[in-house]
Amino acid sequence: MNFLVTAGPTREWIDPIRFITNRSSGKMGYALARAARARRHEVVLVSGPVTLPAPTGVDFVPIVTAADLLAALESRVAACDALIMAAAPADWRPRDISPRKLKKCAMSMTLDLVPVPDILVRLAGRKGSRVFVGFAAEDRDLEAEARRKLVEKHLDLIVANDVGRPDSGFESDANQVVLLDAAGNTEALPLLSKDEVAARVVAWVEARAH
Ligand code: PMT
Repeated sequence: MNFLVTAGPTREWIDPIRFITNRSSGKMGYALARAARARRHEVVLVSGPVTLPAPTGVDFVPIVTAADLLAALESRVAACDALIMAAAPADWRPRDISPRKLKKCAMSMTLDLVPVPDILVRLAGRKGSRVFVGFAAEDRDLEAEARRKLVEKHLDLIVANDVGRPDSGFESDANQVVLLDAAGNTEALPLLSKDEVAARVVAWVEARAH
């Protein structure tokens, strides 16, 4: 199978040296790319800026902004059998990007933020028979919020992770997830390494695709 995997944060520029981002380290997405490669699948990994080395044997596509990520996926989704969206793209970006470094001044500073398009919603029309997997980063109402996103983003599976715990979600080596699928099934996994979570997700995709 051809896996299209996303990982890491995006950066939304304020000026040439400042940006809005989030705590995604890329660990979950890179584990998914490694797990798919270990099962001999073809993998394209589209990654925001992280400090991890690119996994071997994957087609590595670096991106910076959410707009870059959308463009990278729009041009590659047709060639994939499965999309796994573990990246943490921005939900908002500064309306205006200053071409020069903003000078510090005594006055308070307000950023006018505008919504960033929902990439999975944008790609839903391209889904066809492909398997689309999303992630839900929740610190409350985990299953209800994840199921809402599963439906709103037209996904086959959503991996809901508790990002309110220090040992799960962003930056951690482990993850506590609940798998919710479009058929209404829910499976709560124990705290596992991100490699073990990745292996479970890849196995789910393989079973769904056959
Ligand atoms: O990178 P790590 O440090 O290992 O952390 C892993 C992780 C916590 C980032 C990962 O497990 C995770 O939860 N990724 C999704 C983060 C996120 O954006 O969750 P969300 O609930 O805000 O978004 C839901 C889904 O919509 C996600 O699949 C996301 O990729 C997607 N999305 C979000 C924003 C946007 N503009 N377009 C999108 O398609």
